[in-house]
Amino acid sequence: MKLIYKSAAIAVFVAMFCSLYVTVQAQQKQPLPKLGKSSLKQVIDAMTVQEKSKLVVGMGFKMPGMPPPKKDQKPQSTDIGGFKLPPSDPDAYNIPEKVPGAAGRTHAIPRLGIPSITVSDGPAGLRIEPKRPNDPKTYYATAFPVATLLASSWDTALVKKVGVAFGNEVREYGVDVILGPALNIHRNPLGGRNFEYYSEDPLIAGSMTAAIVKGIQSNGVGTSIKHYAANNQETQRNSVNAIVSERAMREIYLKGFSIAVKASQPWTVMSSYNKLNGTYTSERRDLLTTILKDEWGFKGFVMTDWFGGKDAVAQMNAGNDLLMPGNPNQSDAIVAAVKDGTLTMKQLDANVERILKIILKSPTFRGYKYSDKPDLAGHAKIARMVASQGMVLLKNENEALPLTGGKRVAVFGNTSYNIIAGGTGSGDVNKAYTISLVKGLANAGYKVQETLEKSYNDYIADAKSKQPKNRNFFTPPPVIPEMDVNSIVAREADGADVAVITIGRNAGEGRDRKLENDYYLSPTEKELINNVSNAFHAKGKKVVVILNIGGVIEVASWRDGVDGILLAWQPGLEAGNSIADVVSGKVNPSGKLATTFAMDYKDEPSAKNFPGTPEKKPEQVTYEEGVYVGYRYFDSFKIKPAYEFGYGLSYTKFKFSDAKVSSNDFKGSITVTVTVKNTGKVAGKEVVQLYLSAPNNNIDKPESELKAFAKTALLAPGQSQFMLFTLHSRDLASFYTDKAAWIADSGEYKVKIGSSSRHIEETVKFNLAKAIVTEKTHKGLTPEASINELKNK
Ligand code: BGC
Repeated sequence: MKLIYKSAAIAVFVAMFCSLYVTVQAQQKQPLPKLGKSSLKQVIDAMTVQEKSKLVVGMGFKMPGMPPPKKDQKPQSTDIGGFKLPPSDPDAYNIPEKVPGAAGRTHAIPRLGIPSITVSDGPAGLRIEPKRPNDPKTYYATAFPVATLLASSWDTALVKKVGVAFGNEVREYGVDVILGPALNIHRNPLGGRNFEYYSEDPLIAGSMTAAIVKGIQSNGVGTSIKHYAANNQETQRNSVNAIVSERAMREIYLKGFSIAVKASQPWTVMSSYNKLNGTYTSERRDLLTTILKDEWGFKGFVMTDWFGGKDAVAQMNAGNDLLMPGNPNQSDAIVAAVKDGTLTMKQLDANVERILKIILKSPTFRGYKYSDKPDLAGHAKIARMVASQGMVLLKNENEALPLTGGKRVAVFGNTSYNIIAGGTGSGDVNKAYTISLVKGLANAGYKVQETLEKSYNDYIADAKSKQPKNRNFFTPPPVIPEMDVNSIVAREADGADVAVITIGRNAGEGRDRKLENDYYLSPTEKELINNVSNAFHAKGKKVVVILNIGGVIEVASWRDGVDGILLAWQPGLEAGNSIADVVSGKVNPSGKLATTFAMDYKDEPSAKNFPGTPEKKPEQVTYEEGVYVGYRYFDSFKIKPAYEFGYGLSYTKFKFSDAKVSSNDFKGSITVTVTVKNTGKVAGKEVVQLYLSAPNNNIDKPESELKAFAKTALLAPGQSQFMLFTLHSRDLASFYTDKAAWIADSGEYKVKIGSSSRHIEETVKFNLAKAIVTEKTHKGLTPEASINELKNK
């Protein structure tokens, strides 16, 4: 018996040993899954919940000017730019950055072959630290012209070109995803970040975004189109509740994003800071999953804006796949939520999978050997050329421009000497240089009045020396009041052939612009324009104003006093050369406004609802103007703007003729053709704009809406170009909230073709026999209370 027991025990022991041996063998035989080598499912299955919670939360942010958190010490909250920042992840300090100055990173999970990827600002060029400790090399990037200028080119092929150069810098400096482009709608001229955004019109915003995304991503790097959505102000940007109707969201504020997502599949989308109809956008599943991913087919991942939203678990559940810049508390909350069931593993896996899919495409994952030597000289040439294509000639009385070569120019205005290449904050770029206007004019062969130049240089240097050092990241440089030129202006009017005055404006994230001394010219600027105009006009000499601005200003009260106005926007690092190219006529201006210049601020449709209530610290802002944004408002309500949407002069003239529709009855699609002829004396380009007036028997609709546009080639005098546009049924449709559908109403459609929204040269018509439901949508985004929306009937 004893023997039997003994042998049984030995047998059990041997069996146990063998099975253990087999398991160990099996484990040794089955190596860990690796990203790129194993299926995504295998990689995700092998991840622990902790690892997943790290991947969906960024590696943290090095607070500018803050010491690294000490070991075992919970980092403290701080207060930068008016809002509380949560504690940072010690990893941000402890793990060396791949690219110093980049805005954020994801966590690596080396055991599964998952690298950390690097994301960096911003929309007008790569924003990284230009210098590194103990490294003689520099890491400057090209400051391209700001988005508002790019949009004013109305030339998507050109904007794509910018993207190709821009994306090359992203790749060659070792970054994986650029945090741009930005495409929020210009709802109000005081929006502090309007310079980063394209237009008041969603077709322009969406088309420009798609073009630059295609260009950037052709380099094998990603983009993050931002800030999704209804982020149209900086005042209280981290908490303000934007109350917007679903129709205004669909037709205006989401439309550009949908165009860009469908046409260019950006790698990522950045959700915005604000609340939308009561909930943070980063916590809205209808916005991030139902609309963006399910309806539009977005394949990438969504990241928050930096420190955006409040509730990490709600963000995960909404489909906000990555939380940036990330802190360990968020990961802890996610792990706890999986444990208590408030976050399902399925949802977390879905977020993880979207991030991994993009990591797989990233240069870092592919082991790209970046050079740190992009072709900055070549890109500067592109920046110079593009800037001149987006400048808008607003006024040109008696051919004040172009200025013939060799002229003696008296150059006034601080920003002529201290030009503004682009705005501040994350939209700024660390560039190696900026060409001032005086330098650009001198390079073009003009004789800049030297005594005046010296006075300005001394005046500006003195003012700068008195300015506070160590400016906060969110604070634009202090404005230097214009120099008093009373005592010298007569001398200049004697000595020079012409006067050029620059008016400059700067702005950036974190604050909106003000009316006084910003939207309106300051008293010293008005005085400068008056004094110079009086003195030069008295001598029969002309005065040209250059607007070096990022957003709309008031022009109606002073424009009559000057002969020419060139809207140069913020033109990037080659600023002065680009302006000189247009001033000299080397480039014939062909830019058109993608944003209306009102006669006065009070004419703006959002003026009484910006930046919200209560006035002191707005908690909410109601978009009572509904779909009547920009020209949709000015045209429908017959308000005369100073310069309308689509407006811009040329040194030549164009004539439109022979507009035709392919059929009088709309069946699925229709083509519209028109011929454009250069009837003037110099070569030039024209922007052909197609507006549509739809039947409005059922719902209130804007008087007309831009549905297509194209820029001609450079046409020689007498040369013509045949232009063809196709309209699809979706271009005819408006959003019907009650039916949750886009519907093209039956009836007569008027196609208006012109060189601006108010300069229509040709009109043709077609008929739609039966209404078409062009797209069914999900219900969502519903405001908590009804909005007293503006109506046109
Ligand atoms: C801005 C984003 C930017 C991010 C990272 C935020 O303050 O709103 O546009 O990409 O910072 O720098």
